[in-house]
Parts: sequence; structure tokens; C-alpha cells
Amino acid sequence: MKKTDITQLYQEISEQLSAAKDAQALEALRVRYLGRKDGEVTKLVKQLPQMSVEERRTMGPALNTLKRDAEALFSETLERLSGAKKKRAIDVTMPGKKIPVGHLHPLTRVEREIREIFLAMNFSVVEGPEVESEHYNFDALNIPKDHPARDMWDTFWLKTNSKEHQTKRAERLLLRTHTSPVQIRYMEQHKPPFQIIVPGRVFRYEATDASHEVNFYQVEGLMVGKDVSLANFKFVITEFFKRLFKKDIAIRLRPSYFPFVEPGLEVDVACVKCGGKGRLRDGGACTLCKESGWLEVMGAGMVHPHVFEAAGYNPRELQGFAFGLGLERIAMIKYNIPDIRLFYSGDLRFIKQF
Ligand code: DAH
Repeated sequence: MKKTDITQLYQEISEQLSAAKDAQALEALRVRYLGRKDGEVTKLVKQLPQMSVEERRTMGPALNTLKRDAEALFSETLERLSGAKKKRAIDVTMPGKKIPVGHLHPLTRVEREIREIFLAMNFSVVEGPEVESEHYNFDALNIPKDHPARDMWDTFWLKTNSKEHQTKRAERLLLRTHTSPVQIRYMEQHKPPFQIIVPGRVFRYEATDASHEVNFYQVEGLMVGKDVSLANFKFVITEFFKRLFKKDIAIRLRPSYFPFVEPGLEVDVACVKCGGKGRLRDGGACTLCKESGWLEVMGAGMVHPHVFEAAGYNPRELQGFAFGLGLERIAMIKYNIPDIRLFYSGDLRFIKQF
């Protein structure tokens, strides 16, 4: 026996132990090396009495060390495998672990807020399909085929295989360009008086830029009764903006044109950045309202008699107001967001700010 045999054996044991995967494997190794009868180390120790005095003098202490070191290695490995860790002092000055918190998308937040405000004013929330027929999206809303007003909405038309859809032109399918078709769908199924809002996604076949997206969200409103008037509209909408922006805010109605209302209006609110002055406190020009002091926020008007007729109502017995607003536009004003494309960028650095 030579001293190098002993070092080699220790090397072997240490390699085997670091490869051991569990307590069972470890026990097998213990028997193999330290077992009382046939353990490799034990066998060497048993050879000692046959050695010469000279040999014993060097090999004796070497074998003892091997045995002691091997045993120490075994208990260390057992500790590692049973997951017992040395106790470490806690460093109370270390920063804590941050638990990531999810965020609602700003559009979700604004939509929920709008729903709540209208629910509190006794409106119902209804929804309609995103794939719409030409009839509901256009014809029933007093936008006949070949009428120039159709150019107001750049449309994604859908290809269909159905013969029926190809022959009946009014049944051609499209991605709805606004939430207004839900007005007709709702009136077909319900009797007035009622007041509803319709939040939903709409689509336009347009180039994108800082204020245009191919897909965006609208909230439609409709209130119908025997004598629902523009005065009622003015009250409802003033109240709405007051609650949304959490302060008294001036509104302005301007004449405008939409085929499904008469008269048609554009609603402006006083600019939230400059307070309607067009100039900032430091005298600089207000870029939000382009110095006009007003922000255009929705289209509206009194429901056109043709629209009532298309839904099966008698326009001589009823009247009502309708409005439509762009959710992104409202969110951009409320949170001072400069570019509509940010909403759909999927950039968490944007979302996390809300
Ligand atoms: N549907 C219009 C659009 O998308 C918005 C609109 C204007 C809705 C006037 C209305 C309304 O209900 O009365 O451009």
C-alpha cells in the first residue's frame, strides 16, 4: 500500500459524494466506503496489523486522517441533501423583495369610470357585435349607399363566401366603424322610455398617427322618451364631464353634421390644461387645445326621424338624444397622454404609470 493510494481513494470518495442526488444514494456510498465489513476504507485499516513497524508508522496516521475526513465529508453531504442550511444572520438593512403588482390598462380604467357615472344616472350598459352588417352600420342610421356621408367612415369590409350575403347588398358584412348600430339593435328589442350607453371596440381603415388608430374604443349614448330634449342632453353631459374630471367644467355645443341626428352637434369642454384660456400660466401657448381654449370631445344630436323609422318606432310620438365619444381621446385628455399609439404599444413602462 502506498500513500498515493490513500489520496486517490479520498479523491474518489469526494467525487462520488458531490454527485450523490439523495439520501439513499448517499447511504449506498457510505456502505461501500465506510461499511464495517467490506468498506474500502475499512479494508485498508484492517491491513494495518500485517504491516511492518516502518510502514505502520506512516500509513497509520494517514489512514486515520482518511477515515476522519471521509466521515466529515459524509455528514456534510447529508446536510446538503436534507436542505439544512447554516443559519445566517439577517441583514435588516437590505432592501425588501418587491412584489410585482399588475395594473389596469388606462382605457379599462376610464371605461369603468364612465360606466359608473352613467349607471349612477340610471343608464343601462349594453353591448353589440363587432362584426356588423351594412344595414345596421349604415343604412338604418340614415347613411344610404352611395351617399357621400359614407366617406366619413373608412370601412373594413369582410369577404364572405355565403351566396346570400353576396346577393343581398345590405347584408354585406364589415367591422363596425362606430358603436351607433347598437342604437338600432337596442330599439328593435326595447320600448321607450330608456337610456343606455354602449361601450365597445370599433375599426377604421385608416393610416395610424398620433391621433388615429385602426382600432379604438367608443362609448355611444342614447336616451329616448316622449319629450327627451336637448336641454336634457345638456344637463346629462355637463354632469358627466363634471364627475369625470372631478371639477366644474364648462361645455360648449357647436352645430355639426351626422346623418343619424338632426340637429347634429359637436361637444367641446374647456381645455383642462389651460383652463380655457389658450395660454399657460407662464404665458406660453397651450399645445393641448392649440390655443383655442376648447377640446372637442364628442359628437351628438337629436335622433333623426329616419333612424326611429328604421328601428320600427313612430317618430311623431318620440324623441331622444344620442352621442358618441372616443375613449382614447378622453383618456388622453384626462391623463395627458400625447400619442394614441401608446395605448396599444404593449409597453409596460407606459401601463405601469396608471
Ligand atoms: N358615430 C359617430 C362617429 O363614430 C359619433 C356620433 C356622433 C355618435 C353623433 C352619435 C351622434 O350617437 O349623435 O363618428
